[in-house]
Amino acid sequence: REEGVVRQEDGSYLVGTYHEIEALLHDPRISSDRRKRTVPDETALAEQGLPPAFIGLDDPEHHRLRSLTMRSFGPPHTPDRISGMHDEITRIVKDLLGTFPGKERLDVVDDFAYPLPVTVICRLLGVPIEDEPRFRAWSDDIVAGIDPTPGEDPEARPRAAVEARKEMGLYLGELAEKRRAHPSDDMLSAFVGDGSGGQLTPLEIMTTSVLLLIAGHETTVNLITNGVLTLLRHPEELARLRSDPALMPRAVEELLRYEPPVHMLPQRTPLADIEVAGVTVPKGAPLILMLASGNRDPRRFRDPDRFDPAREDNQHLGFGSGIHSCFGAPLARLEAQIALHGLLQHLDAPRLLEDPPPYRRSPVLRGPRHLLIE
Ligand code: HEM
Repeated sequence: REEGVVRQEDGSYLVGTYHEIEALLHDPRISSDRRKRTVPDETALAEQGLPPAFIGLDDPEHHRLRSLTMRSFGPPHTPDRISGMHDEITRIVKDLLGTFPGKERLDVVDDFAYPLPVTVICRLLGVPIEDEPRFRAWSDDIVAGIDPTPGEDPEARPRAAVEARKEMGLYLGELAEKRRAHPSDDMLSAFVGDGSGGQLTPLEIMTTSVLLLIAGHETTVNLITNGVLTLLRHPEELARLRSDPALMPRAVEELLRYEPPVHMLPQRTPLADIEVAGVTVPKGAPLILMLASGNRDPRRFRDPDRFDPAREDNQHLGFGSGIHSCFGAPLARLEAQIALHGLLQHLDAPRLLEDPPPYRRSPVLRGPRHLLIE
């Protein structure tokens, strides 16, 4: 951060200051489309199998797909489908907490945070409950493809991820066709059109549904897990939150700033030579925006390394900013608030059994692989 913009040996450029990141995320000369890069893209394999979804497209195509999808997710400022999920999420959280008794130690990841978002997204899309296990298996392969284990064949998991993407896409495409014949009130039914102009093509339904799962799964797992870890490391703040549960929404914002699940955005490419903090970043070079660093920039946040669940004026970069800013933010916020509240109510005096815990290998999606507590 102190050096401003850093050129790495592989020709990519890192930006870690809040104001520069924020400005780049609003700059129309910055593309999200990897195909516009001039440097080979080594991480692309795990993401193949389907054409790019709208997170990897630029306007006007991005805008068309995002707004069509948004319409079925609920209007941006009155996220009714999302607030309608409150009771459903509370039930899922309660069911997961109900599996705890009898366990000597808990893994916050496997026992709690991991199953929640995938179940929620299945319910939103309208995946029948009996198919949820298949959906979870694909989701596991896709997530593992992003995060291979050291020592194994580096291609094996990405290959499985490509297959899983395709299979899940096909499954969702077929389900959408069933909804076209027999609509219900789920998102897939909304995707296939309501006669009010514009709808997603079958291929776009596949790429968009897979995007919703991928963008919304591991990120939410990490927000909940990073949240538990951070709170257990700050017992005074934890006690404060227990005595004043109304602080929870602000505490979740602070977690998104302090330990953001998306540590960086590695996908940007300038469409022209651009000047960032006095450095020329050439057209086509990979541009990596370090959200986590921007979130701790002392020029933007007072006392940035302090975790303060009551922090005000918290315009963090945890959900990005600009045209690609997180589409699922209202859902992620709701899931994290309900999950953390439920867990804190359920556990009397939780204790970390391993600190620091083992982390996932991905430098982009940051969070523990396991988080053992008793
Ligand atoms: C975009 C973070 C949960 C769907 C983004 C971006 C970030 C982000 C940083 C910007 C990406 C970019 O600019 O390239 C997070 C975090 C989450 C979360 C930290 C959880 C804590 C979700 C959920 C969903 C979702 C639950 C959907 C169910 C999306 C989509 C985009 C996106 C579709 C692409 C938006 C666009 O390109 O216009 N998210 N996200 N996210 N997120 Fe999330």
